[in-house]
Amino acid sequence: MKQKTLSQYLVEQQRRDPAITTEIRSLIETVARACKAIAHCVSKGALGGVLGSLESENVQGEVQKKLDVISNDILLGANEWGGQLAAMASEEMDTIHRIPHSYPRGDYLLLFDPLDGSSNIDVNVSIGTIFSVLRAPLDAEGRDIEEADFLQPGKKQVAAGYAVYGPQSLLVLTLGSGVVGFTLDREQGSWVLTQADMRIPEDTAEFAINMSNMRHWEPPVKHYIDDCLAGENGPLHKNYNMRWVASMVADVHRIMTRGGIFMYPRDERPSGKKGKLRLMYEANPMSFLVEQAGGLAIDGDERILEVQPTGLHQRIGVILGSKNEVERVLRYHQED
Ligand code: AHG
Ligand code: MN
Ligand code: MN
Repeated sequence: MKQKTLSQYLVEQQRRDPAITTEIRSLIETVARACKAIAHCVSKGALGGVLGSLESENVQGEVQKKLDVISNDILLGANEWGGQLAAMASEEMDTIHRIPHSYPRGDYLLLFDPLDGSSNIDVNVSIGTIFSVLRAPLDAEGRDIEEADFLQPGKKQVAAGYAVYGPQSLLVLTLGSGVVGFTLDREQGSWVLTQADMRIPEDTAEFAINMSNMRHWEPPVKHYIDDCLAGENGPLHKNYNMRWVASMVADVHRIMTRGGIFMYPRDERPSGKKGKLRLMYEANPMSFLVEQAGGLAIDGDERILEVQPTGLHQRIGVILGSKNEVERVLRYHQED
C-alpha cells in the first residue's frame, strides 16, 4: 500500500478546499516539524539531559520542567521566520510573542501548550503538544498584534491538533472538516497518514477523572460519578471502567480512538472555581478536535467552543468525549 505523508495530505486538502491557504499548509508543516524535534528530545530522556525541573515558574505559578522550556523554544524558533504568523501565545510565556519586524508577517495566530502532561515526563509516561490556529482580526492589519486579538471563541479556530509522544509518536489534526491521524516514521523522518477519519463512538462506559478531587466537586459531577460507580444495578444500568493518565493528550487520544468521557471539572476550591485546564491552549483545541470527530465538549453548562475568552491564560472546566455521555452530564448540570 502506498503511504501518504502529511505533506501530501495537506496538498490534497488545499486542492479540495480553497479556504486552506498555502500559509495554513506551511504553518501546519512547520508545527509538525517542531513536534518531530520535540519527539526526538523526549525520546532521548536522561541521555539528552532533558529530564527534571528548572528553578523558574511560569505565569500560572507552576514550576517549569526542562522539557516545558525546550519544547516552547523549539515551537517559537520553528514558527518565527516562515511568514505565516503575526504572533504566538503559549502556556509557558507571560504574554504574546509578536513576530519580529525582521521577518515577514502573516495572517495567523498560533497558540500552544508546548508540553502537556509535565508531571509524566520524568516517569516515562505519554506526554504531548497541543496547538490551535486562529486568523488575526482584519482590523489588526497595519498595527501591532495585541493580546485582545487572540481572545476569539474556539469556534473561530482554523485548525487545531496535538502530538502524543508515547510508544509511538502521533500527530492528530483537524482543518475543520474531520480529524486525521499520522504516525511518525522515524526512519523516513515523516508523518505518515494512519487514521484517515477519526470518529468518537457516541456511547461509552469509560470515564476519566482525577478521583482524588472528589470531595471538592460540584453536586452534578459528584452525582454523575456516583451513578457510574453504582454499575449495572444503578440508574445508568451499566458497569463503567476508569482511566486517568494525567496527560490530557493521552486521555483525549484514548477517547478519540475508542470513546470515553474526560472530565477536569471546575470545583468548589477557591483555586478550582474556574477549572484547571487552560481555555486557549488546551480546552479550545481539544474541543474542536473532539467535535470534529463527532463528540461534544462542554464546561458544564455550555459548549466550550462558544465561550468568549476574557484572558489569554484563562482556565475552564472541561467535560468532553462521547456525545451521548457528555449530553448526559449536561443534563445532570441542568437538573441538579
Ligand atoms: P500541563 O502539563 O500542560 O500543565 O497540563 C497538565 C494537565 C493535563 O494534561 C492533565 O489532564 C491534568 O493537568 C492532570 O492534572 P492532575 O495532576 O491534577 O491529575
Ligand atoms: Mn497541558
Ligand atoms: Mn504544558
